[in-house]
Amino acid sequence: MSLPQKPNPFSFLNSINSHSSEADIEKKIVIPLLSLLGYNNQDWQSQSGIENLKLDFLVNPKQVLFNHPPYLVIEVKSPNNKINNHRWQINRYLTKSQAVFGLLTNGYHFKILYNFHDKIIPIADFTQETIKTNFKDFAKILSKKTCLAFNNVLYKSQRKVYDQLSLTLAKTINNAQIAEVIQSNIITQETAQIKSTKVKENQGMIITVFNNKGGVGKTTMTMNLAASLNYFGKKVLLIDIDAQANLTTGLGIDPLNDVELQNKKDITHLLLERKTTLADTIYQKRWKNIELHIVPSHIRLSSMENELIQLMDSDRVLLKKLKNHDYDFIFIDPPPSFGKVNRISLMASDGILIPTQLAPYPVRALEYVLQQLNLVNDIKDHPIDILGIAVSMYDQRSSNFNGEMVEEIRRIMEKNIETNKTQLFPETTWIPQLNIVAKTPEKGYPLYEAEFTNDYSNKEKESAQRAIECYENLAKELILLSQNRDIDF
Ligand SMILES: Nc1ncnc2c1ncn2[C@@H]1O[C@H](COP(=O)(O)OP(=O)(O)O)[C@@H](O)[C@H]1O
Ligand SMILES: [Mg+2]
Repeated sequence: MSLPQKPNPFSFLNSINSHSSEADIEKKIVIPLLSLLGYNNQDWQSQSGIENLKLDFLVNPKQVLFNHPPYLVIEVKSPNNKINNHRWQINRYLTKSQAVFGLLTNGYHFKILYNFHDKIIPIADFTQETIKTNFKDFAKILSKKTCLAFNNVLYKSQRKVYDQLSLTLAKTINNAQIAEVIQSNIITQETAQIKSTKVKENQGMIITVFNNKGGVGKTTMTMNLAASLNYFGKKVLLIDIDAQANLTTGLGIDPLNDVELQNKKDITHLLLERKTTLADTIYQKRWKNIELHIVPSHIRLSSMENELIQLMDSDRVLLKKLKNHDYDFIFIDPPPSFGKVNRISLMASDGILIPTQLAPYPVRALEYVLQQLNLVNDIKDHPIDILGIAVSMYDQRSSNFNGEMVEEIRRIMEKNIETNKTQLFPETTWIPQLNIVAKTPEKGYPLYEAEFTNDYSNKEKESAQRAIECYENLAKELILLSQNRDIDF
């Protein structure tokens, strides 16, 4: 019994003879060759018109961005033509189309040309024989894989030029509003790089999300805001320092089954064991497009006030553990009461973010929040920055009432010397009150994940998107604040 013969991938080369027509060469040689190079039917066009020229083949895969020059043009002759006599033709096509490579063939000879700034350079000649023996080299230049890699590099360097230009424009433009829009919309690779080297010097920002009124949407805001920052490429750590562990469970970690029973460490170990480092307690979670790191909490934290108080320099335990971290943002989510754990959080923080509802009681509580803050600042080396007040559960329907609440917030802040410059973040950042926002933490994932699951209707996914937009606007505000802070240093 003989084994079935492996099909010869080059057998198509034998399908022509010296009397074949140009159309034969196209059909029997060029099209099979393109397929061997990895292109499918949608990746090329035949008889493609550019100005008044007709190109035999124009190869430009759909994945390549529309505003990029084509990768390859092919000019086909019949075998009774010497291809070198037709170099002028392919030269003209390459110049007109701005394509990167040209291939000139009569079915027996294959000439590859490279368009170097409109100077057309012949770079390789193949025959049917050498195509078979050196196909790797042929494919290295002309395959779809190379084409896509080439375009990717082109795209990236072009992006840099665009971004640099936009940034320069933003800086020179005399209209603050336009400049701000440009600046806040290009979170470029360039600026991200500058930022990340600055972060190394400056260690990112540690933020306590703080409000001593419970149920204002603090934990929900913390997790989704963190997700938005990660969506913008920031490395984010969340520290759950509330015994309720809502942040931990809201991100799909069960403090008992996922942490304790797996012999992993949580916030209580980080605070109480001198030898436990931050890295020992970090739990990494990944969803479709978001990655967050979390120090989980545990209900046992609620009975540890005494142990915490007895620690040496107890207010600074967390501050010390967070030294030398390499996150862009760290968010600490403390309990609503004002106790030991809150002092520890504030002592470790560079800034605080105050979430509030536009409702009388939470707004009145702001005054108390600010008082507490002043007490902590009295013992801190660097005063805490009040980053701003963020609206967490916004009911658009009661606009008059919302207006009154905003006035009240402004009045409270202006009364207080240290906060009279504090901002209420703009309305584009106000998180709407929506069922979907409350639902995702129950499922154990950030709002971004709603899009990728079958747990919700399209309507719900749309409202998730509405809320995400606000979280992203808030994230942009924080990115700007952290950049300005870098500049101040
Ligand atoms: N934007 C929102 N829309 C609807 N419900 C929300 C929103 N934000 C939070 N909630 C719900 O409000 C309740 C309190 O939120 P939570 O984030 O736990 O507040 P806190 O941490 O301040 O106690 C939770 O049931 C939560 O699901
Ligand atoms: Mg909470």
